Amino acid sequence: MRKIQSYPMCFVLFLSLLQLGCKENKKESELKKEAPNSQQGEQPLAKIVYGEMPDGEKVEQYTLSNAAGMEIDVITYGGIITRWTAPDKNGDYDNIVLGFDNLEQYLQSNPYFGALIGRYGNRISKGSFSLDGSTYSLATNDGENHLHGGETGFDKVLWQAHGKKTAEGSTLILSYTSGDGEEGYPGKLKVQVTYTLTMDNALDIRYEARTDKATVVNLTQHSYFNLSGNFGQDILDHELVLEADSFLPVDSGLIPTGEFRPVSGTPFDFQRSKPIGRDIDAGDSQLELGLGYDHCWVLDQGEGDFGLAASTFHPTSGRVLEVYTDEPGIQFYSGNFLDGSLPAPQGGTYGKRSCFCLETQHFPDSPNQEAFPSVRLDPGDIYTSRTLFKLTTK
Ligand code: GLA
Repeated sequence: MRKIQSYPMCFVLFLSLLQLGCKENKKESELKKEAPNSQQGEQPLAKIVYGEMPDGEKVEQYTLSNAAGMEIDVITYGGIITRWTAPDKNGDYDNIVLGFDNLEQYLQSNPYFGALIGRYGNRISKGSFSLDGSTYSLATNDGENHLHGGETGFDKVLWQAHGKKTAEGSTLILSYTSGDGEEGYPGKLKVQVTYTLTMDNALDIRYEARTDKATVVNLTQHSYFNLSGNFGQDILDHELVLEADSFLPVDSGLIPTGEFRPVSGTPFDFQRSKPIGRDIDAGDSQLELGLGYDHCWVLDQGEGDFGLAASTFHPTSGRVLEVYTDEPGIQFYSGNFLDGSLPAPQGGTYGKRSCFCLETQHFPDSPNQEAFPSVRLDPGDIYTSRTLFKLTTK
């Protein structure tokens, strides 16, 4: 929103009125209207104690399930999805997300498997940004840059949980309040993430946040998928479509250079279905920087529109994963940094490119790049974001 300051006042007022109606900053009354009447036929969600934090606080695990037989386990540590079962074309269910089978392993070393990411998903250059004349310093936990909210991001905190089963499916509401100055970010931020497993095998994720000071927010979900259900296999045979005709090239620290580059004629063109492995080792300088795909694609849909962003098909199992969002970007990461050092519960270890992530989000480093859509949140406004992962077979 800083760009509008040099325009005539009447234009500024016009833009402000437009902004009042935009999806990112809805007023509380509008959201209440959208809230479903959920009191009828509610039942509690299955839960167990999953483990204990070093200070003795209990971590719970909730299981979302539907009549079709899909199950999703979520723990209150990091809001992490630890297991997600989906049928293949023969109706056989497998877990399709990478994870661990105990809290200790998540506490020891977790490359964001299944986690909620905040306050800022992806990177902020040199861990610094300015807002209204003040400069804020964040942890530099990825070389010289800030990644995924810092040392103790939302992936490493305990969330309050409330689960229920309704006629529409299973819902888990997770809440967390991040204090003013936590990880260097301004403002006390109240966050709520709602996971709903629908009857037709979709996980609908809705994010909301409110602040008491101007701040920046960019929330996402960091599940690592392998639709084969066999994590000993890489994902190079999965076929991917990204609804994007351009992507954001990066520098050596994976910070966008500011260029919007057309994908046509490059290995980044997933406008038509293509195996992930076809061009991944094409010798392209952008692929060399990420050791594979680790870039943000600029979605074709207009900002704030909710629509299909990505679709992945695993030919052998027949599983299809579609991703819908109202975010302007999607980070496609092909698991390049996994190196076989982390144990897989079913035996063996997680190897390079044994998974892929599709992280819906605003663009990396937006707080420092005025041409990117704004990630600013002001007191009185409500940040909202929605992403839906739908599983089918063909
Ligand atoms: C994101 C980043 C990657 C990597 C993973 C976690 O996808 O873009 O570079 O940091 O998270 O390992």
